[in-house]
Amino acid sequence: MSKEKPEEALTLNTQHSFPMNKPKLLIAEDDEDLRTQMKWALTQDYEVFLAEDRSSALEVLKMERPAVVTLDLGLPPRPEGVEEGFLALGEMLELNPLTKVIIITGQGEKDNALKAIGLGAYDFFSKPIQIDELKVVLRRAFHLVQLEHENRELQQRLREEGFEGMLGASTQVQEVFSSIRKVATTDVSVLIVGESGTGKELVARAIHRQSSRKEFPFVVINCGAIPENLLESELFGHEKGSFTGAHIQRKGRFEMAQGGSLFLDEIGELPLLLQVKLLRFLQEQKIERIGGREEIPIDARVLAATNRDLKQALNDGKFREDLYYRLGVVTIILPPLREREEDILVLAMALLQRYSDENKKKITGFTKPAIRAIETHNWPGNIRELENRIKRAVIMAEGSKIAPEDLELVSPFKKYEGHGLREARESLERDFIERAIARNKGNITQVASELGLSRPTLYELMEKLGMKKEK
Ligand SMILES: Nc1ncnc2c1ncn2[C@@H]1O[C@H](COP(=O)(O)OP(=O)(O)OP(=O)(O)O)[C@@H](O)[C@H]1O
Ligand SMILES: [Mg+2]
Repeated sequence: MSKEKPEEALTLNTQHSFPMNKPKLLIAEDDEDLRTQMKWALTQDYEVFLAEDRSSALEVLKMERPAVVTLDLGLPPRPEGVEEGFLALGEMLELNPLTKVIIITGQGEKDNALKAIGLGAYDFFSKPIQIDELKVVLRRAFHLVQLEHENRELQQRLREEGFEGMLGASTQVQEVFSSIRKVATTDVSVLIVGESGTGKELVARAIHRQSSRKEFPFVVINCGAIPENLLESELFGHEKGSFTGAHIQRKGRFEMAQGGSLFLDEIGELPLLLQVKLLRFLQEQKIERIGGREEIPIDARVLAATNRDLKQALNDGKFREDLYYRLGVVTIILPPLREREEDILVLAMALLQRYSDENKKKITGFTKPAIRAIETHNWPGNIRELENRIKRAVIMAEGSKIAPEDLELVSPFKKYEGHGLREARESLERDFIERAIARNKGNITQVASELGLSRPTLYELMEKLGMKKEK
């Protein structure tokens, strides 16, 4: 291995002088002339490291971590073969899978080059080397390195700070963030679909805050929570005397959202009659109060959310097709937490931090079993459930780490841990029978029938399990 520094570095004699800022490139090549020629051609743009065989190349990779490597497949001790080169490639990628390895092959060795690409090499290049072409390939490789680096930094930042209060590192969440950014600057209505607790309202708020409407109101109405006869007046308002009890004129949510955004939560619950009125608003940007004569122009953006399958509602005739298409010009789908494995722990850690700060408790993390429990739990209540369990755990925790008990996520297998299969089975059978007896208030005939056993077999089993017969 020979690491030859450009002259400026030697004369300046400082460790972090100017050439250190150049990107690092490793040339693994056994032909000395070629090595030197490449070095001199590339040294202006890169900090070049040289290696003449596999072990020294690996050494440089460990010490200097160059982002890009050119690798001659024919290295000593068998420069005529390709084995050393392939070995080197494998070891390099194992050390750092993001390394861009550019394979240099002899002429007519395209098969090997393609095989190397299949193994994870970035590109290949045939001898004789055209330096100008190589420079282009290198520039592209370093550019990609740069992009990957920026992307990792962005992900890291999102993990730490999130986007509009939303955390997450998974590609699904990143896509949601990117959709939010794209739609925010437009005025199209957006349909947000996701199970309960997946963050639909948070997304709606993020769209509003990222839009030019952010200085104007964000108005929420839950279509499923308001009785049908009141909902129309809530949404569109009414004139004095328009129905019994309408003592004064009242503005609806549409008017309150003037200039801003109107979030219609649980849109699937909107009665058909009001669906027609909503559709009219979407087409004409005008509403009429109940009992009103004039049309009121409204400049409000509609965001809607649903946690149920609107397609099913369409088929059942409970939701208008024209409204569905009008509303869902853009649809943002929030995947359930259990399908975003990458996010679960990121969110759990962030929430733990938040609540332990809030409660002024010094909790440093989760125990290993707690992490396993978090990862294997199905999270039917999604992020809201995660929040609640962690909030509770922070309050309940006695140690410096959260245990599965604190999260109320004790595995049903826990009591069998450390037992053999036979003991575990017997213990389970005992639990099973005891519960059935309790449920059937000691009526053994009913217990036997519920468990699918004859009475004598049940008695026999209970005796074997050392259980007392109930009278
Ligand atoms: N990506 C996220 N990062 C951090 N917290 C989140 C994220 N998504 C949602 N939350 C939190 O989870 C909780 C539930 O979110 P939200 O109320 O937006 O969900 P929802 O889909 O509207 O639920 P529901 O269907 O029950 O109304 C909120 O406290 C919210 O702050
Ligand atoms: Mg909600």
